[in-house]
Amino acid sequence: MVTLIDSPTSAAVQPRLTVQTADIAANTTAIRCLDWDRDRFDIEFELHHGTTYNSFLIQGEKTALIDTSHRKFESVYLQELQDLIDLKSLDYLIVNHTEPDHSGLIPELLDLAPQVTVVGSKVAIQFLEKLVHRPFESQIVKSGHSLDLGQGHELQFISAPNLHWPDTILTYDAGTQVLYTCDVFGMHYCDDSLLDETPERLEPDFQYYYNCLMGPNARSVLMALKRIAPLQFDLVATGHGPLLQHHISHWIGQYDTWSQNQVKAQTFVALFYLDGYGVSDRLVRAIADGISKTGVAIELVDLSVADTHEVRTLAQCAAGLVLGMPPQSSTSTTLDPLLGTILAAVHPKQVIGLFETGGGQDEPIYPLRNRFQELGLLEAFEPILLKTEPTAATDQLCREAGTDLGQFLTQSQSPPADTALDPELNQAIGRLSTGLYILTAQKGDVRSAMLASWVIQGSFEPLGIVIAVAKDRAIESLLHPGDTFVLNVLEEDNYQSLMRHFLLRFPPGADRFAEVNTYPAQNGSPILLETLAYLECEVTSRLDGNDHWLVYSTVQTGRVAKLNALTATHHRKLGNHY
Ligand SMILES: Cc1cc2nc3c(=O)[nH]c(=O)nc-3n(C[C@H](O)[C@H](O)[C@H](O)COP(=O)(O)O)c2cc1C
Repeated sequence: MVTLIDSPTSAAVQPRLTVQTADIAANTTAIRCLDWDRDRFDIEFELHHGTTYNSFLIQGEKTALIDTSHRKFESVYLQELQDLIDLKSLDYLIVNHTEPDHSGLIPELLDLAPQVTVVGSKVAIQFLEKLVHRPFESQIVKSGHSLDLGQGHELQFISAPNLHWPDTILTYDAGTQVLYTCDVFGMHYCDDSLLDETPERLEPDFQYYYNCLMGPNARSVLMALKRIAPLQFDLVATGHGPLLQHHISHWIGQYDTWSQNQVKAQTFVALFYLDGYGVSDRLVRAIADGISKTGVAIELVDLSVADTHEVRTLAQCAAGLVLGMPPQSSTSTTLDPLLGTILAAVHPKQVIGLFETGGGQDEPIYPLRNRFQELGLLEAFEPILLKTEPTAATDQLCREAGTDLGQFLTQSQSPPADTALDPELNQAIGRLSTGLYILTAQKGDVRSAMLASWVIQGSFEPLGIVIAVAKDRAIESLLHPGDTFVLNVLEEDNYQSLMRHFLLRFPPGADRFAEVNTYPAQNGSPILLETLAYLECEVTSRLDGNDHWLVYSTVQTGRVAKLNALTATHHRKLGNHY
C-alpha cells in the first residue's frame, strides 16, 4: 500500500513526502518513508535521488518495532503504525542506531506507547536518555544477546560500532532470516521499488553512500562483516533506500572489497574518545573532519563500547592517534584499563594529539602527554583543553588541529613534489601565470583567510569566478555552497607584506587577521584595507578536482580602490607548486 501524505502544491515549496508499507516476511511489515526531494545530508553529502527512512514491524507473540523515522514524517508515520497495531500492545522498540533520521520520532512513540522497552547498545540507550528527558524501560544488548518474540522470531544482536555512528547494532531475525542493518548497506535512493531489482541503477548511490559514511571506518566495516558472516539471511532490511534481496552477495562483496582496499592503501589515524555529555563526541568529529581533509583515513573509537582487542590493534597499526579525555571523575572505571592498553601498544613512529573536555581543575591530559612523549611519540598539535561549552570557534580549532595532524603524516610520507612530474611538463605548466589574491571569509564568529593565485573569471552571466582551493586548507570549511566570502585583489607595488603575513603558518584556531587592517563587507567577510580591489562573492557549487575543490561562485558586488594601479601577478617556473 502506498499512501501519499503531502500532495505538493509547488515542488519548490512543498517537498514530496510519501509512505509505503509492504509485507516483507512472515508477520513482518516494512514502513518506508519516502523523502523524494531531500537534496543534502550532513554538510558534505549531496543527494541526487532523495532518500527513504525505513522502519520495520515484527508481530510474534510479542511485538517489536525496528527503528522509527524522521520527524518530518511524524503524523503520517505514526498513523500508519497505528493502522497496523494498537500501540498500547507494542512490546519492544529496537534502536539499531540513534541518528535523528531513524530516532526522531522516539519521544512521540514513547508518548503513545509508554510501556515499550527500548532495546539498543549501551551508547544508544545513554544517548536516548538525554534525548527524551523522561524515564523509559530499556534493555542494553550487544553481540551474543538475543530476544525471543515468539512464533519463531528470535532476534539476535550484532555490535557494529562505528558503522557510521558508535552506537550501531544490527538485528537478525533467525526465524525469517532477515538482517536489519539500519545505515549499513543503505543508500540514499528514493523510488517506489521496494527491492534491489536493478543493481546497475543503484550502484553509484550505493558506492557514494559507502564512501561518505562507511569508508572512513573501513576496519570497523571489516569487523562487522566478520560478525555477520556465519548468519544465513536472504533479505537485508536497510534503513535507507531499497531493501536488498536479489544481489545480496554482490552488495556485501562490494563492502568487503572497498574496505579491504581502504585498509591496505591507507594511512589512518585512530581517534579514541569517551563521551561525557556529547562534547567529546563533537570535538572528536571536528578533529576527524580536519584529518579527513588531508586524505588520511580515520577510525573513531568510542572507548565506552570498544573491546580491548580492537583498541590494541588500532593503537598498534595507526600512523597517528588522537585521544580525548573527559573530566577525571568520569574516567576512572571505564578508561584506566583501556588507557593501559593504548600506552602498551603505541610506538615511537606515531604522532599523537590530545584533547580534554570538562570543567574542574583536573588536567589529566598533562601527565598523559608526558607518558606519550616518554614513549617517543611526536605531538601533532598542542593539547586542546576545553573548560566551557564548545562553539563554532572550537569546531574550527579542532578541525585545524586535525588537518595539522593529517598534513604531518602526508608530508612525511609523500615523495618530494618535484620528482612526481615529468620535468618538461612541469616547466610547461609552470608558464601558466595568474594574479595574487587574499581570500577572506567569515561565518558567525569563525573567520579565515588564504593567499590564492589559482583564481579566474568563470562566467559573464551570472558573473562568476572559479578558485582552486586545496582540500586541506583551513578556509575550505567556510566555502560550501551558500557561503559568502571576499576576494581581495593584491596590488602590484604593494603586496609583499600582506602576502608574507597570510603565508605564516598559523596555529590551530589562531586569528589570522591580528594586526591587519580590515573592515566588514556587506556579506560580513573582512575586506583588507591595503588592497587594489575586492569582490563580494557567494559560493554556488564545488567541483571535485581531486586534490583541490574548484569553487565556483557568483560575484555580487565589488570596488576598485585605485583605478590606474595594476594587479600583482604571479609567474612561476614550475607547475608542481603555486
Ligand atoms: C604564491 C602562492 C599562491 C597560492 N595559491 C593558492 C591557491 O590558489 N589555492 C590554494 O589552495 N592554496 C594556494 N596557496 C597556498 C596557501 O596560500 C597557503 O599555503 C595556505 O594559506 C596555508 O594553508 P592553511 O590556510 O590551510 O593553513 C598559494 C601559496 C602561494 C605561495
